[in-house]
Amino acid sequence: MPGIVVVGMQFGDESKGAVVDYLAEWADLVVRYNGGSNAGHTVVAEGIKYKLHLVPSGVVRGKRVVIGAGIAFDPEVFLEELEDLKAKGRKIDLLISKKATLVLPYHKELDAAIAGGRIGTTKRGIGPAYQDKMSRVTGLKVMDLFSDRFSERLLEVLKLKEQELRSSGVLKGNIEEYYREIMKLSEKWRRELASFLGDDFMEVNEAIASGKFVIFEGAQGTMLDVDHGTYPFVTSSSTIAGGACTGVGISPLAIDAVIGVMKAYTTRVGKGPFPTELTGDIAQYIRDKGGEYGTTTGRPRRVGWLDLPMLRYSVMINGIGYVAIRKLDVLSGLKKLKVAVAYELDGEEVKVAPPYVEDMERAKPIYEELDGWNVEDWDELVKKGWDSFPSEARDYVRFVERELGVKAILIGVGPEREMTVSTSYLKEIIEL
Ligand code: GDP
Ligand code: IMO
Ligand code: MG
Repeated sequence: MPGIVVVGMQFGDESKGAVVDYLAEWADLVVRYNGGSNAGHTVVAEGIKYKLHLVPSGVVRGKRVVIGAGIAFDPEVFLEELEDLKAKGRKIDLLISKKATLVLPYHKELDAAIAGGRIGTTKRGIGPAYQDKMSRVTGLKVMDLFSDRFSERLLEVLKLKEQELRSSGVLKGNIEEYYREIMKLSEKWRRELASFLGDDFMEVNEAIASGKFVIFEGAQGTMLDVDHGTYPFVTSSSTIAGGACTGVGISPLAIDAVIGVMKAYTTRVGKGPFPTELTGDIAQYIRDKGGEYGTTTGRPRRVGWLDLPMLRYSVMINGIGYVAIRKLDVLSGLKKLKVAVAYELDGEEVKVAPPYVEDMERAKPIYEELDGWNVEDWDELVKKGWDSFPSEARDYVRFVERELGVKAILIGVGPEREMTVSTSYLKEIIEL
């Protein structure tokens, strides 16, 4: 039984939630390793739609789920999410790492004041919380909430940050009052979180050692990785497959396969380069048909053609052998589809995207055109299976497989769980 990582190959929102939900049928444990409530993972199952921000998507199938040490953990968002999951009848079997970084109200306010407009962040406090973690002097962890010294530590942190809070306009009044407000919230958090606290590294390593099937669920996408994405237009965590090791405390040897999740086209929310971006009618067609509006913020997503140089980069740095291709249904109705097979950069042909803002901004996609398909009723085809799909759709997938040197295990043609079809390669994963 394997340890597998499910990772976004583009700019996030590739449909990782739907893929994790599908694969969770075989899983014993589903573990989130990076990011925080900037993530919005959608699962649609049995007529119910779940929008998950912090709780791993395995919760929808009632699986044991773990929020790892690498997470920026916002207790307010978490408790709301928990309520929603309970109201929808979900069983909650969950562990929160003691080592996860706390996101406090001022992180969100600082995010909105400083990075919101400049980077186009989700304003969920992610950058400021990780910044405090890395500084060490102002970072607070979930376990600190439960320490006798929490009150003292929080006051010390606020004093260290006072100047920053004032100059950014976050703190206008008295710092002691601000401190008391957070202390009041923290009492509720302590009460409601206590039963979930635990050692993620212990539980996950024991699960791996005893041969259980563990899914590591990534948030965001490869091109948003803080080191390997289009810096500075990235998030503040390690989104790539390697992030699972640091974000949970597992060995790279615990990972048997990496499954990349990609849309059949490309989308991006927020600022930053996007070589295959479309504007005009086709963009609007894809945006409307694909419901390309952010799960977390409702912002319209930027859309564009599939970008193979970017995906090759993603395959390389994540070690992706298998992919799940989503939203093939959205391209239906377009007569011709373009796919970027390379970039032209300063007169040279480049096959693997250079992850630098300036290069990506100058890169001109070299397109190949493929035939489109037109399907009105996917339900029938899904029931009959992958081989019944139009030959043009299968050719599109084969083209991607060949160009990237990967095997497609799942194809998505709708948000609902039953709208995912598997190929014969799926068994290579579940029989690992
Ligand atoms: P994630 O952040 O990677 O989990 O992705 P999101 O949930 O933010 O965005 C994916 C969106 O596409 C969600 O609204 C899903 O319900 C929807 N979705 C997922 N797979 C498919 C698919 O194959 N076809 C269509 N039309 N929608 C899909
Ligand atoms: P999931 O897990 C898409 C984007 C933001 C912004 C940049 C930095 O649902 O795929 P941040 O708030 O993280 O500091 O914002 O990253 N971003 C995402 N885009 N999907 C996400 O998560 C994202 N999380 C952050 O739009 O451009
Ligand atoms: Mg999302």
